[in-house]
Amino acid sequence: MLELVGGLLSVTFDVFTQKLQLFRLPSLADIGGPVEGCTCIVTGPTSGIGRETASTLARRNAHVVLACRSLERGEKLRKALLEEGAKNGKTPSLEVQILDVACLDSVRKFASSWQQRPLHILVNNAGMFTMGAGRVVTKDGFEGHMGTNFLGPFLLTMLLLPCMQRTAKVSNHGHPIRVVNVSSKMHELSPGIDVRDPHFAKGRAYSSLAAYNRSKLAQVVFTAELRRRLPAESGIVTTAVHPGEVMTDVVRTLPGLMQTAYRFFMRPFCLSPAEGARGFVEYMK
Ligand SMILES: NC(=O)c1ccc[n+]([C@@H]2O[C@H](COP(=O)([O-])OP(=O)(O)OC[C@H]3O[C@@H](n4cnc5c(N)ncnc54)[C@H](OP(=O)(O)O)[C@@H]3O)[C@@H](O)[C@H]2O)c1
Repeated sequence: MLELVGGLLSVTFDVFTQKLQLFRLPSLADIGGPVEGCTCIVTGPTSGIGRETASTLARRNAHVVLACRSLERGEKLRKALLEEGAKNGKTPSLEVQILDVACLDSVRKFASSWQQRPLHILVNNAGMFTMGAGRVVTKDGFEGHMGTNFLGPFLLTMLLLPCMQRTAKVSNHGHPIRVVNVSSKMHELSPGIDVRDPHFAKGRAYSSLAAYNRSKLAQVVFTAELRRRLPAESGIVTTAVHPGEVMTDVVRTLPGLMQTAYRFFMRPFCLSPAEGARGFVEYMK
């Protein structure tokens, strides 16, 4: 109980003081290192923090795979990023691939189509938070947050690991291969993972907040374990990064009036997507 109160206070403190705490952090354009020639996968690039991350990598001449669950939204994004690039006299290297991280079949299909391709940076950004809504279940029968935020990205990472290991052996761009898991400080509010009922299936009081926090805790634990299993000599670095409280479409499931109220009251305290993406880009060097 004490831990929960402590976590709640810490998260609340961070939300309302983050702008003050981060005011010295350089802008996105001045962060991170060169990624020219790297192949990067960004999941969930169609909005928010993922879009900023994908467009930053593309601007820096990486080959960016836009891993989206909707071909239409992916192509729209690719067109927009090409137009952004053209304004600066560049032609970004972009590719749209279908990936629904909430569906294990889709994850397997994506990974098997990758085959022998190199992979330098995997950004597991796609995620959901059905704030205020009821329990949803993925096609595979997992609780929605657990399936989308942890189990899908976990499988994707493990299936692509051999590609990253191969790339690490032959890579000569001087930087480690990266797995960047977009995490959340909210994981601190989860009291733990009930391994007998990880999907809130046994009629226990469900809340989308508890489910989101649990899925993010699972992701942080996975990151720590993968780091432990991949020694420095492997050339692969795994990181979990909290982007801060960022004004994105993350509130899309709230009723219209609540969304408006959230945006109105929280805007002064929230980071922009570009400010939120700084954490990940910083690790890409
Ligand atoms: N915003 C914050 O304050 C905050 C704080 C801490 C952590 N985070 C984390 O940051 C990440 C990005 O969130 P955001 O705030 O930028 O939210 P967002 O604007 O809602 O973006 C989420 C992205 O994930 C994609 N996505 C959702 N479910 C997917 C699925 N099953 N398969 C493939 N793509 C899927 C969405 O694609 P569609 O266009 O298809 O919907 C969208 O591109 C999430 O992991 C979130 O938990 C955010």
